[in-house]
Amino acid sequence: MKIARLTISDRASAGVYEDRSGPEIERLLRARFGPQTQFVAALVPDEAELIAARLRELADAERCDLVVTTGGTGIGPRDVTPEATRAVLERELPGFGEIMRVQSFARVRTAILSRAVAGTRGATLIVNLPGKPSAITECLDILGDAIREGVAHLRGEDAHATRRED
Ligand code: MTE
Repeated sequence: MKIARLTISDRASAGVYEDRSGPEIERLLRARFGPQTQFVAALVPDEAELIAARLRELADAERCDLVVTTGGTGIGPRDVTPEATRAVLERELPGFGEIMRVQSFARVRTAILSRAVAGTRGATLIVNLPGKPSAITECLDILGDAIREGVAHLRGEDAHATRRED
């Protein structure tokens, strides 16, 4: 099991502030997928071409089972994560963004400012999350079960057998 966490931020990639979001994704997913999980950490500025290139590399060359991005999903002038992600997706999973916004809205009224998308490229599941560490905790709580099941499907594993063993 190989997971990439991709932080998308002009300021974190310039070293203006420390990236706390990427490590938070890794901490939460390690707890969910177990200590054997291999992680790849990546950080890029809010540039659509750089984001798309990194996503392609993590899916096609690094063959990650899962790529979780954080940041750049809003409506700021530099926010281009959803466009860059869509450009590399082969199949979109609209339910991920929909349920993230609906369930997060019940807790945080600004949740609908995120345009996060998700989908698949080859055997890789790609999921956008907002940038704030607290939003990462909230959204992975909402999406965690579907991410786990989706990765099992892409790996060709019998997800139902896995579930019976849980
Ligand atoms: N979703 C959850 N669950 N919790 C949050 O605090 N913040 C919102 C939204 N989604 C938030 C959330 C805010 S304030 C913004 S601007 C958007 O995510 C986009 O954030 P991003 O540009 O860092 O991706």
